Amino acid sequence: MKALVTGGAGFIGSNLVALLLNEGHEVVVLDDLSSGYSENLEPGVEFVRCDVADCESVRAAAVGVDIVFHLAASVGNARAIEHPLRDSEVNVLGTLSVLEAARSEGIQRVVLSSSAGIFGELKTLPIAEDHPQDPDSPYGVSKLAAEKMCLVYNKLHGMDNVCLRYFNVYGRNQRFDAYGNVIPIFAERMLRGQEVVVFGDGLQTRDFVNVRDVVRANYLAGTSDAARGAFNLGSATRVTINDLASMMGELAGVEPVFRHTAPRSGDVRDSLAAIGAATEAFGFVPSVPLEHGLREYMSWLREDEVTLARWRDAE
Ligand SMILES: NC(=O)c1ccc[n+]([C@@H]2O[C@H](COP(=O)([O-])OP(=O)(O)OC[C@H]3O[C@@H](n4cnc5c(N)ncnc54)[C@H](O)[C@@H]3O)[C@@H](O)[C@H]2O)c1
Repeated sequence: MKALVTGGAGFIGSNLVALLLNEGHEVVVLDDLSSGYSENLEPGVEFVRCDVADCESVRAAAVGVDIVFHLAASVGNARAIEHPLRDSEVNVLGTLSVLEAARSEGIQRVVLSSSAGIFGELKTLPIAEDHPQDPDSPYGVSKLAAEKMCLVYNKLHGMDNVCLRYFNVYGRNQRFDAYGNVIPIFAERMLRGQEVVVFGDGLQTRDFVNVRDVVRANYLAGTSDAARGAFNLGSATRVTINDLASMMGELAGVEPVFRHTAPRSGDVRDSLAAIGAATEAFGFVPSVPLEHGLREYMSWLREDEVTLARWRDAE
């Protein structure tokens, strides 16, 4: 099979590309390198550098492709609150551009990377697919619109699009970024002996799912006949941010120094995925326990050349 992976130079996309190549498939990566890294590009992949909202370039990249894994996005609540127009341009128009390319090239399935951000504040626990969708940030709104667009193409054009709503993903190739996720930020600060900033009281909970499980889910969803529609994707376990920090401190061999600040706007209090629908439709079962995944992640980060070069520059 020939796969087009948008956002394939990013954190999750690069892990997916590695899996697809490993399974013997041909891969084209489309990415503008705005938050991805050329260092993440696997040898042997065809690379198209362009904006995913540029319909003509996306259509050209989709020629001869059997499936699209659409990961390119403006990612995260904080970035979206600061740049709401760009957020929607990339996440909504970019998704439409991918869907139109798929339609015109006769590609039957787009697997969209969606987000648990579409749900907003938790109303029931765990969060199943039918949880109310009431996003707390422009990012949640744009991801929800992207999902709805994929699902409407199923209805109108008989496509088999799949939307995977990731909870908090972590693992190899996830680097510190100003708008970033808590695990790379904590890991970096602990490994550099700096204090750890916790938003609010640290008792908020998150469902952290390892990137190896997420890319396996993409592969299963992309290749299973029964997969169609929207599915929640997490580890089905949750941990408080304080407990996460203690666990990471132990793995880093440090006693972390915490500083608590005000809660961050756009952040939800609790999060936990119900994953039964993904298990039933395409056999998804998470396989990487948090502690194991964190150990693996911290040893990768200690040797990551991009991160080490940035640390040297900051000194
Ligand atoms: N990391 C998480 O915890 C998480 C959680 C929920 C959903 N997601 C979704 O998973 C996907 C991948 O996220 P990630 O964590 O790997 O982030 P990432 O920033 O590492 O990857 C996004 C990639 O898209 C590329 N990109 C951004 N804008 C683009 C544009 N206009 N045109 C072409 N390429 C563009 C970036 O350069 C980057 O390589 C995203 O769709 C994101 O919304 C991630």
